[in-house]
Amino acid sequence: MSNILLITSSPRGAESQTSRLAADLAHKLNKQLAGSTLTIRDLYAQSLPHIDAAYVQGRMLPADGRDAGQSVAVAQAETLVAELQAADIVVIGSAMINFGPSTQLKAWVDHITWPGVTFKYADGKAEGLVTGKKVYLVTASGAVFTEGPFAAFDFHSNYLKHTLGFIGLTDIEQIRVEGLGYGPAVAEVAIANAEAVVESVLAKAA
Ligand SMILES: Cc1cc2nc3c(=O)[nH]c(=O)nc-3n(C[C@H](O)[C@H](O)[C@H](O)COP(=O)(O)O)c2cc1C
Repeated sequence: MSNILLITSSPRGAESQTSRLAADLAHKLNKQLAGSTLTIRDLYAQSLPHIDAAYVQGRMLPADGRDAGQSVAVAQAETLVAELQAADIVVIGSAMINFGPSTQLKAWVDHITWPGVTFKYADGKAEGLVTGKKVYLVTASGAVFTEGPFAAFDFHSNYLKHTLGFIGLTDIEQIRVEGLGYGPAVAEVAIANAEAVVESVLAKAA
């Protein structure tokens, strides 16, 4: 049995390739894997607040030492962390927005990257505490970042792989849709390639 967590985050709504592909992968995995469950966290439909003092201070306090605002802020983060901890498979759709993830996904990262809860320092080293999960990271960008003049500027993938790895999510398979801004012919091939990768992931998972 597998618990699947689908996280979508593009600000492009129904136009989003990452939301469509990530949802397709997660729903098909859910159908394919006997007894699996699917939890959907749509960060576009339901944006998280930016983290603030209530969260940053509240999470350092014991539950009975928090004021009302701190309790609400910490409870929100606890819900997100619990969703992540319960998952065996995490499917994330992430649009490149100004060379990074969308503000929607960054807010999620800010809520779940929590010292003592999702990572800790031991013997002077950081140790991720959210381990043993498979992550499928579907990314899309207008430009091409796997090669060429923009290759040095893939802060989006590098940031997500680093921050997810930092909390223990190290088994990450990336599915890229890139070059979407290079005209319809390039976009069509990029989308078809990504769809083929989704199908091969499903075939492997079967
Ligand atoms: C506000 C905005 C900023 C963007 N910034 C970048 C960027 O920095 N680099 C890039 O290659 N593409 C950029 N794009 C193009 C998106 O990455 C592209 O549209 C991609 O398909 C978004 O993923 P989605 O289809 O899941 O929404 C941007 C698009 C928008 C709407």
